[in-house]
This record gives sequence, C-alpha cells and structure tokens, in this order.
Amino acid sequence: MSREFDRVLVVDFGAQYAQLIARRVREAHVYSEIVPHTITPDEVRERGAAAIILSGGPKSVNAEGAPRIDPGILQLGVPVLGICYGQQLLAADLGGTVSKSGIGEYGKAGLTVGDDHGVLLEGTPDDQTVWMSHFDAVVEPPPGFVVTAATDTSPCAVIEDRERRLFGVQFHPEVTHTPHGQDVLRRFLYEGAGLHPDWTPLNVIDELVERIRDQVGDRPVLCGLSGGVDSSVAAALVHRAVGDQLTCVFVDHGLMRHDEGTQVEQTFRDHFGLHLVMRQESGRFLDALAGVTDPEAKRKVIGEHFIRVFEDAAREVYADTPGTKYLVQGTLYPDVIESGSDTASTIKSHHNVGGLPEDLDFDLVEPLRSLFKDEVRVIGEELGLPEDMVQRQPFPGPGLAVRIVGDITQQRVDMVRAADRVVLEELRRAGLERELWQSFAALLTVRSVGVMGDERTYGHPVVLRAVTSEDAMTADWARIPYDVLERISNRVINEVPGVNRVVLDITSKPPGTIEWE
Ligand code: XMP
Repeated sequence: MSREFDRVLVVDFGAQYAQLIARRVREAHVYSEIVPHTITPDEVRERGAAAIILSGGPKSVNAEGAPRIDPGILQLGVPVLGICYGQQLLAADLGGTVSKSGIGEYGKAGLTVGDDHGVLLEGTPDDQTVWMSHFDAVVEPPPGFVVTAATDTSPCAVIEDRERRLFGVQFHPEVTHTPHGQDVLRRFLYEGAGLHPDWTPLNVIDELVERIRDQVGDRPVLCGLSGGVDSSVAAALVHRAVGDQLTCVFVDHGLMRHDEGTQVEQTFRDHFGLHLVMRQESGRFLDALAGVTDPEAKRKVIGEHFIRVFEDAAREVYADTPGTKYLVQGTLYPDVIESGSDTASTIKSHHNVGGLPEDLDFDLVEPLRSLFKDEVRVIGEELGLPEDMVQRQPFPGPGLAVRIVGDITQQRVDMVRAADRVVLEELRRAGLERELWQSFAALLTVRSVGVMGDERTYGHPVVLRAVTSEDAMTADWARIPYDVLERISNRVINEVPGVNRVVLDITSKPPGTIEWE
C-alpha cells in the first residue's frame, strides 16, 4: 500500500486476534498489515512501519519454544503496543517480570485507573470494564515504565514508557466486550505513536487502479464473474483501470439463484458497458450431474465443466494476441493471511467452482488482496455497484447443486430456487437479511406426506437454514421471529409445487456445516 499512509504492522503470535486488531486499526483510519513474529528488524524497516502492535497468543512467555520477536525490533525507535501476550513479551524482553498470576483472568474484569491516566487511558473513566484472557501477568514493569492501571489479578494491566513510546495492555482492546478498547487503540495510534488517521478504503481506489494499469499494460484481461461480492468488485475496479481491455465471463451452470444472471447482465453490460460474455450452459451441467449424489462428486463435475467453458472463452479472448494472459481474482486479505504468505499468488479453490488449474497459465490480477470484506463492500458501492449485489450473502460456487440433498434434476433445481427466493424475499422484507451470514432453502429428496382437502399428498421437505457468523468457520443458527418463519413456510408451501413441508435447521457449526452438502 502507498508509502504516503502511515502503516502499522500487527505481529501475529498465533491467536485469532491478529486479524481483529488489524481491522480495528483500519477502522481508526490507519493502514495495517499482519506479519509473522519471525519478522526481522530490517524487514520492519523495509516495510516502513510507523508503529507495531504485538498481538495476543496462546503460549506463556516463560514456556520453552514460546514465539518471540527479534529483540532488535524494540530498539528501532518504532512505537510499540503489546496486547496480552504481546505485553508480557515486551515486559519480559525489557527486564520486567512475568509470572503466573495464580488463578488467571478470563472474561470481564474491572480495571482501576490510577491518578495519572497516561497516554492510553486519558479521557476514559477511572473504573471501567475490560476483556481478559490470560494466565500469566506482568507483575513488575521493566525499568522506565510506569503502571497506569490494574485489576485484582493484574497489578500491571496497563504500562507505558512515554519516552521510548512503548506501551502494553493486559486486556484485549480489540474486542467489543472492552467498551473503551477502540479509544485505547486510537490513543496509542494518534497520541502514542503520532500517526495520521487518513487511510480509508475509498482513498486507495486510485492507487489500486494505478497498480492494475502498471501490471497489465495494454494486454487483454479476463475475469470470471460469479455474481458474488468479491468478483464483482474486482471486475468493477479492473474495468475502471483498463476499460475495454477487460472481458468478463459469466458461466451460467443453471444452478444460480433467481435472477442472478439477469442482474449480472444488467449491472455489468447495461450499466458499466463492460464486455461481458454470458455462457448459458445449464443443459450441459445438468446432463453431467444426472445420477450424481455424492456432494464432492457434484463439486468435481461442476468444477471440471466450469474450467472447460472458461478455457473456451479464454482462447477466444487471446486468439489474436499471444503473450501474457491476465486473470482477475477476487482474493481478499483473510485468504492471503490464511494461505500463510502475503507475497505468493495462489489460486484459491473456494473462489471458483472447484478452482482453476495452475496450467491455465495466467498471471493473476488481485486488486483486493490487501482488503477485508467490509472494505471491499465500501469500494463496490463507491464504484457504482448496486447495493444488493455489494451487500449480498456468500453463495457457494457449485450453487444450488449443494442445496439439493440427493439426485439433481431440472425440476428439483426449480423447486429449491423458488423456495430460496421466498426465503430471501421474506427475510429482506423483515429487515433481517444483513444480520445473517447466510440464509437459504435446501431441498431434501425424501418424500414426506401431507394432506390437502381430503387427499393425502406426497411431496418434498424444504429445510430453512439461516445462520449468523463472523467468518464461516463457526456459525450459530439464527433466531428468526415466529411470524417471519410462518410467512416463509406458508409462501413456500403455497408457491412451490412439489414442496409440502418446511423444517427449520437449528444446528450450529460445529458440529453442523452451513451448507447441507
Ligand atoms: P460449510 O458448509 O463448509 O461452508 O460450513 C462454509 C462456507 O463455504 C461455502 N461453501 C462453498 N463455497 N464452493 C464455494 O465456493 C464450495 O464448494 C463450497 N462449499 C461451501 C458456504 O456457502 C459457506 O459460506
């Protein structure tokens, strides 16, 4: 990212908090990146770090093999904030004492601030709630540090060395359970480290556009559009950068949600005037899926056919211009972090149906790889994408195929799509769509019995699945009000021929998955 923005490095010690810290820093309008704890002082300098945050971590600093940092990093003169494990590491490395606090401290704790609130706590209450999760604690601060707050079990809950601009907090300021946490982070960034809050996702658009131009020059660029947020925003950005050099391919495998293809066409062809190839291939996909019931086999069949259709389109685009081929991917920052490398470009299988094979021989254009999802949404809206495209829930690449439990037929696809449409419409009308990570209908191919008039009827049950989640790794079933459930159930039974029962899935993940297949 641009040198003109201050940049914070968040050192990851293996807990789940590093991403959250990085997001909170960006919410404070300072650009942040996550780096491994093995980073060297030279690398810190090369990256132009204006401040460093040491994250929490699951180990004890006194344990053998606990992750550490190169002590030279603390000598660079770059301001540092240590959080939880990070604070203990800072204290231990600079001559303080860390030991077991006896009982540990988990969950909410009362923080008592001293007369001098110091840099971090200035303007916050004398007594406040903070979120703790630790066994060890700093019991004696390193020379040069003052203690500005404590809890019953953490005598040095907040420590500062204002001269060297080194700070430590035992609690987690990044979680919402610490009401003044964001204030503390902001105070560290602006007052402690003297950084400028001028980064926003919007003011990096020009730079992202510039970089795309630098990368692809005047070559043609290809993009697989799925209708999802990431590929849509990536396509819109690349289109802004290189206009007609971009060709987007939308492969309709016949397993899309209601009106998805039409919306993509209207948005990208009619509104943006972008060169869009629509491949209507539902017959081909359905034929290939006939009789396939195993979920992984379904994914494989769809993935293979998808690649073939895509290759055809690529051949046409590059027919007259041998040379480097460019493929746009909507890779996001969490994908980059999880793949363990922020430099290598790998094709993530989840981003496309089944993943594109490496031998397709494309150079990847990944304009969103430094951004979190909510930042991507902000950029998408700014670029003029319709709100319901930018805010939409994730949808799996293999589409409705993994929402029909059993054999796939055209009739079943129509049923699950119609039921899905009702679910979405009703949740949207109730104002619940945005609160949910995903909400959809799945079709079971078992037969259930019902009665209409005097007749016994046989039909299929539809499962209503609605979950809340942060990142799809874990999820909880959503507590949807009864009246909304009732409307969904009534409409599905009345409007979708062949469905005679609606059941609600109340399984969290784990042990359940979000999708049914
Ligand atoms: P599960 O069902 O494993 O899903 O809890 C986690 C997230 O991944 C999505 N998902 C997929 N996405 N191809 C995709 O592109 C797939 O084959 C696939 N299977 C699951 C799912 O919708 C959820 O967001």
